[in-house]
Amino acid sequence: MYKLHRNCDITHLTTFGLPARCAALLEWTDNGDLADALRLERLPRPFLIIGGGSNLLFTRPFEGTVFHRLGQPELDAVCESYCREGVWGFENLSGIPGSIFGAAVQNAGAYGTEMKDVVSEVKVTDLENGDRFTLSNRDMQFGYRHSALKNPETAGRYLITDITFRPEASGPAITHKAVRQIIESIGAENATPMAVREKIKALRDSKLPQPALTGSAGSFFRNPEITACEFEALSQKFPDAPHFAQADGRIKVPAAWLIDRAGLKGAAEGGAQVWPLQPLVIVNATGSATAADVLALERRICNEVTLKFNINLIPEVQHI
Ligand code: EPU
Repeated sequence: MYKLHRNCDITHLTTFGLPARCAALLEWTDNGDLADALRLERLPRPFLIIGGGSNLLFTRPFEGTVFHRLGQPELDAVCESYCREGVWGFENLSGIPGSIFGAAVQNAGAYGTEMKDVVSEVKVTDLENGDRFTLSNRDMQFGYRHSALKNPETAGRYLITDITFRPEASGPAITHKAVRQIIESIGAENATPMAVREKIKALRDSKLPQPALTGSAGSFFRNPEITACEFEALSQKFPDAPHFAQADGRIKVPAAWLIDRAGLKGAAEGGAQVWPLQPLVIVNATGSATAADVLALERRICNEVTLKFNINLIPEVQHI
């Protein structure tokens, strides 16, 4: 069975809690139902695929069809189940809101682990013609919050229907300082996937808004990567600027630090606010914020960060 709704409110399909509407919403449970809908219905274009809706900002009503599979597995539930079995590799991804499908498309990550480290392959349906095929981890071309399915020419065309995971890690992934501290605090000999998972979840809860209480879309901006030359100029003015060298020679500077040092923690426009505990996140503080409020705050943050640091912030949240 599938259901096609026309001109409907889809606010509840996103985590930001901002008013969102679309011309058509297709909901289904089985792959066969999706195939039926593609064959039988005339669906308005363009297409937009929604997983957990945890990385979306609707700036206006969407004029096409939103595809939303009912009962999508949540990433955190998958993490919990692997951790419970004593399998390493998923512990650092614990607590990330959203479905496994959306997480794979955007290569969601935290604390040094990304979806690319745990996904073996994905099966997709081509929404243009109903064809089904498999993409390997390599085919997915995973990058920082990026995959082949996010390319402008493919976005909204290939819908993930299945994911195979490859738990290969033989121990905890310790590249992020926070994970090192967690392992030290529980002792290497007591460190189980479940024990690390619990600490990661507590750490997230101490910094990030609770999705059930405060609407947001997680990190609103990407962490900018600048050239060595640009970093030189930055560090002359701000010698304490935190920075992380990347494999390609570029240098990642935390957007949270830039926003913090620009004095914008807690800054608000209408109902939208910079989350005081992690300024990389914009929240729907009043529960009644509008997209215009968020866009005004986004503009203000970008302007002030550019003025102060000569660095352009790029949103990580997908604007519709
Ligand atoms: N910082 C400040 N002030 C603050 C908070 C942070 O200056 O109030 C600086 C500190 O220097 C800190 C640095 O920002 O060391 C980095 O902070 P943190 O490690 O908490 O994470 P992040 O780089 O801001 C990224 C991801 C998060 C992920 C965390 C943890 C992106 C866009 N965001 O944030 O992902 O949970 O690392 O690994 O890469 C998401 O994508 O939605 C998301 C929440």
